[in-house]
Amino acid sequence: MTPGLASFTRLLPKAELHLHIEGSLEPEQMFAFAKRNRVALPFANVGEARAAYAFSKLQDFLDIYYAGAGVLLQEEDFHDLALAYFERLHADGGVHAEISFDPQTHTDRGVPFDAVAGGLLAGMAAAREKFGITSALILCFLRHLPEENAIAALRMAEPWLDRIIGVGLDSSEAGHPPRKFARVFAAARERGLKCVAHAGEEGPPEYVLEALDVLRIDRLDHGNRSLEDAGLVRRLAASGMALTVCPLSNLRLCVVKDLAAHPIRKMLELGLRATINSDDPAYFGGYLLDNYLRTAGALSLTRAEITALARNSFLGSFLDAASVSRHLAAIDRLEAAPAV
Ligand code: ADE
Ligand code: ZN
Repeated sequence: MTPGLASFTRLLPKAELHLHIEGSLEPEQMFAFAKRNRVALPFANVGEARAAYAFSKLQDFLDIYYAGAGVLLQEEDFHDLALAYFERLHADGGVHAEISFDPQTHTDRGVPFDAVAGGLLAGMAAAREKFGITSALILCFLRHLPEENAIAALRMAEPWLDRIIGVGLDSSEAGHPPRKFARVFAAARERGLKCVAHAGEEGPPEYVLEALDVLRIDRLDHGNRSLEDAGLVRRLAASGMALTVCPLSNLRLCVVKDLAAHPIRKMLELGLRATINSDDPAYFGGYLLDNYLRTAGALSLTRAEITALARNSFLGSFLDAASVSRHLAAIDRLEAAPAV
């Protein structure tokens, strides 16, 4: 990729729609929080932690990710974690983010829901103040646990629901189909929350269909395996459903064998509203811009394709129509500028 195209990509206004805030916990920060909170870690040092980030499937990663999250105890930890992420997003040319959090990972360890949500929202407010970045919060249910636990999490979130944009579904996909969470998603929708779900990352296209038909999702997280079903692809394209695709995550979790084999260009060609996101950047080796640049480099994406991905990130967001138009107009202005 040319330096000109790389700097164009950095300058492009972009939204991140698939980011687990717990997955932005860098090893350095993990050690700092562990010290501050007097928590023991299974790693002797930062190098040892990074060396453990070698995964052959989703579950390998999840085991380490949940262990790492054990250092997050105080409201200020959640604030600091969020603000550090937004600082990186700002450096990457990100202007908006819809970030997920896993409350059950914390409340099951005795951390109050209020400390989690309060800290994250304070970090989001600080990011708006410092960097002008707008953001929204998505509460994810852990699919490896029973639906009753998800219902309890939604109940715990009740006083905060006016500051939460939607609910999601994450964690171990295989063996935990979306239909297991039909009731809690119906309850969330009744409360006016948006619905998103991980589907088709490791799970089959049938899980994507269930996410559409049973959970009635507004956006699809990952969705890679939708490509195995031509009828499903046509349906996703016709409905303008956004897919929050995560190339470096797909690489590290062996969803694709190398980035040159990543299906993102194919998704665009099929008319899918594909977006690029970082998922768990501290564990997968790159933040939003790295995901754009490494994917664009491996696939020789054109300026028009990169621009389409950035446009999709706003079209697929939960921003109001006026904000989407404002961001698209900023992209148009950059596009109209002479190429460097
Ligand atoms: N939790 C954090 N990252 C995830 C991913 N990529 N898939 C499922 N659950 C997750
Ligand atoms: Zn994810």
